[in-house]
Amino acid sequence: MDVTFRIRRYNPDIPGKNKPYWQEFRLADVDPNDRVLELLHRIKWEQDGTLTLRRSCAHGVCGSDAMRINGVNKLACKVLMRDINGSKVQVEPILGLPVIKDLVVDMEPFFGHYREVMPFFVNDEPVPANGRERLQSPDDRAQYDDTTKCILCAACTTSCPSFWANGKYVGPAAIVQAHRFIFDTRDRAAKERLNVLAEPNGVWRCRTIFNCTPACPRGIEVTRAIGEVKLAIQRGTTTGIVDISTIHIKEPT
Ligand code: SF4
Ligand code: F3S
Ligand code: FES
Repeated sequence: MDVTFRIRRYNPDIPGKNKPYWQEFRLADVDPNDRVLELLHRIKWEQDGTLTLRRSCAHGVCGSDAMRINGVNKLACKVLMRDINGSKVQVEPILGLPVIKDLVVDMEPFFGHYREVMPFFVNDEPVPANGRERLQSPDDRAQYDDTTKCILCAACTTSCPSFWANGKYVGPAAIVQAHRFIFDTRDRAAKERLNVLAEPNGVWRCRTIFNCTPACPRGIEVTRAIGEVKLAIQRGTTTGIVDISTIHIKEPT
C-alpha cells in the first residue's frame, strides 16, 4: 500500500524552518504490519536525513518515542499500519513540553515533576535481623502492582488538558510514580510525598478528565491511581499525616 505521512517539522537553527510547519512524505510498498516507527525511519534514511525523532528500544520498553499520531498520544514503535484507519498518518510532537526539533521535546520539565515526588524507596530502618529482604505479603504487593509498570513515556501527562493549561501541575505520570511508593508497605516516605501532592500544583489540578488512562501504552489505570492518592490525602488530613494548611481542594489560584 502507499501511505502519506504529514509530519510537524521545526528547526530553530534554520531560517525559514524556525517556525512549526507541516511537511508531507509519500511511502510506497508499505506493509500493514509495518510500525509507524519503521516508516519514520524510512523517511529519515531514504528521503530526509534531517527528520529528528527520539527512539531507542523499538519494542515498547524504553518509552522514548511517545508522539501524537493522528491526534492521539502513542508510542510510534507500538502502532502498526493496519491499526491506522486509512493511508494517511499525521505525526506531531507530544503537547505541553517545549519542542527542541521536529518530534523531539524537552523532557526536563516532565522529569522535574517526577523528581518532586521522591520516586525512590525510602526506609532507613535496620535491615531484618535474619539478613533477608524486607518481606511483603502478596496482597500488599498487589496494591501498587499496576503503577510499577510505568516506563515514563509522558504520554499520559502530555495528553492532560490540565497540564496543557498549567505546566506546573505535576501531572499524572508523577502521581503514578508517587503511587508506586506511597502504597508500598515497606516504604517510609508516604507522608512527604502526600504533602507534596497536596500542594496547589499536586493532585487537585486533576479534574478527572480521563485522557491519561487511554493514552497509557502500558495499560495502567492512571486515573484510578490518581483517585487513590486523592483519597490517601483526604485520609491523611484526618490522621494528621498531611498538613491540612496545604490542602487545596477548591480551584487553586
Ligand atoms: Fe507512560 Fe503510562 Fe507511565 Fe504515563 S503512566 S508515563 S503513559 S507508562
Ligand atoms: Fe488529566 Fe488524567 Fe486528571 S487527563 S485531569 S490527569 S484524569
Ligand atoms: Fe522504546 Fe518505543 S522506542 S518504547
